[in-house]
Amino acid sequence: MNIIKVKNDAEVGIEAAKIIINKVNTQHNITLGLATGSTPLSTYKNLIKNYQDKKVSFSDVKTFNLDEYKGLDGNHDQSYRYFMDHNFFNHIDIKKENTKVPSGIDTLHPEKYDELIAQNGGIDLQLLGIGINGHIGFNEPGASFDSLTSVVDLTPLTIEANARFFASKNDVPTQAVSMGLKTIMQAKSILLLAIGENKAEAVSHLVNGQISQEWPCTILQNHPNVTIIIDEAAASKLK
Ligand code: F6R
Repeated sequence: MNIIKVKNDAEVGIEAAKIIINKVNTQHNITLGLATGSTPLSTYKNLIKNYQDKKVSFSDVKTFNLDEYKGLDGNHDQSYRYFMDHNFFNHIDIKKENTKVPSGIDTLHPEKYDELIAQNGGIDLQLLGIGINGHIGFNEPGASFDSLTSVVDLTPLTIEANARFFASKNDVPTQAVSMGLKTIMQAKSILLLAIGENKAEAVSHLVNGQISQEWPCTILQNHPNVTIIIDEAAASKLK
């Protein structure tokens, strides 16, 4: 695991954007796996800035997002489709039809998302955040390492952590459609970002913990090509 330690959120965004831009500029028709949440926002800002400065184009890039809340339509302002459109896709030259987010409404055959990823040649670079409890995507503690995209239950801790985006805790969906741990592990390379003190325990498990379903992120220790970019606070519990 390649570990890049930087000072703060702003520097995480700069370093992550550099890695993504380098990949996009060297590999035609690249497929990116993308994440939502607070963590990648500074990365998306930097990618947009570089696009505006003509340092990168996304015209032949395809993307697959990790997850979506079950029950939320893409027009809902807390859906992850809405998040991606408003924080990234609407500001770059990507073709909208090349951007995929799991459907939160049509959830009968979530595994079809894996088939779609495979038909597109697999994910070349998967961007990840990490939950306080070590979740990646919405694969909560106890999730099977063999899981593909499926409907998953969110833990009370995750619902609480995400309540900040909703009018009240009761409005947070209790389920999501998420790429599975196996889906994530099939990506050719992985770039995980972590910012802030509340991620320090999860980051210490990710880097030094025993591989166990209790800390889903630990499965990444078995992946041959993982880079993590963490700020000082998120790195504070690393030995
Ligand atoms: C988001 C996702 C989640 C988040 C994680 C951290 O698509 O799959 O795993 O990356 O919950 O969220 P933030 O960045 O808001 O702390």
